Amino acid sequence: MGNGLDGKVAFITGAARGQGRSHSVRFAEEGADIIAVDLCEQIDSVTYPMATREDLDETINLVEKTGRRIVAEQADVRDFDRLKAVVAQGVAEFGRLDFVLANAGIMPILGEPSHEMSAYLDAVNVMLNGVYFAIEAALPALLNNAEGGAIVITSSSAGLKAGGARFSTMSHGTAGYAAAKHGVVGLMRYYANSLAEKNIRVNSVHPTGVMTPMVVNEQFMQYAVEHPEFGETMQNLLPNVPVIEPSDITEAMVYLCGTSGRYITGITHSVDAGLTVK
Ligand SMILES: NC(=O)c1ccc[n+]([C@@H]2O[C@H](COP(=O)([O-])OP(=O)(O)OC[C@H]3O[C@@H](n4cnc5c(N)ncnc54)[C@H](O)[C@@H]3O)[C@@H](O)[C@H]2O)c1
Repeated sequence: MGNGLDGKVAFITGAARGQGRSHSVRFAEEGADIIAVDLCEQIDSVTYPMATREDLDETINLVEKTGRRIVAEQADVRDFDRLKAVVAQGVAEFGRLDFVLANAGIMPILGEPSHEMSAYLDAVNVMLNGVYFAIEAALPALLNNAEGGAIVITSSSAGLKAGGARFSTMSHGTAGYAAAKHGVVGLMRYYANSLAEKNIRVNSVHPTGVMTPMVVNEQFMQYAVEHPEFGETMQNLLPNVPVIEPSDITEAMVYLCGTSGRYITGITHSVDAGLTVK
């Protein structure tokens, strides 16, 4: 319990599976209680299967196995009032809030729907506006915490450079992904400056490809085969690292939220095997 998360409470979006589940379980193992939300429904512009209610139930199960508590609700990060209600429910139960991990996301870049303007709007609504709503929903409880707190936004290597963008891969979905993931860096800097005097630290994490159902799916594999130029730009600099694991990103979350990150605010923290330095 040396990482400074014991007895704390984390609000985690997109917690049903993938990185969000990994963060939820590890934070619980470190002694934190969890307030979790996930949409658990399909969004029209997303061609791969999104998380289900059963996925969220499995996160609940895994967190409870650690002995910690979890409040987990189906909620859309595009619905500010719903997020406020879930945060209120969690804070009523656990008595405090220390961390926000704004992790929920979609990749509406595959297949025909990505050429619809709705794909751009979905990307920005979920991954830029949804991050704003999650932070704003949590802010009153964070400000109420005399110890301060930490916010980490999950961006992407695509939030530091529009990797993979070629004429042949142009689509509204791809544009929306790049815009949202860059946009949250602006939000991160805005909040880091605004909230420092309240002892709330704010950072963003920028993963390269991570082994989750967002990229480990039939649609993505087909896209990669049809667009080898996309795959080339996604190739990591470190050898023999095609993708990284959710736990690699969780490690960064523990670092940034915990004692080791106590003097870290306002940074873009890449976990990308050198992808963005290329
Ligand atoms: N997997 C990668 O290669 C990769 C790389 C860089 C960044 N990211 C980012 O990491 C984050 C986590 O993604 P992941 O890899 O775990 O993928 P994932 O698809 O396994 O998990 C994303 C979760 O977010 C949820 N979600 C989507 N829209 C939502 C909404 N409107 N409201 C509430 N929940 C919603 C999904 O249901 C899903 O459970 C995302 O922000 C993603 O963009 C992923």
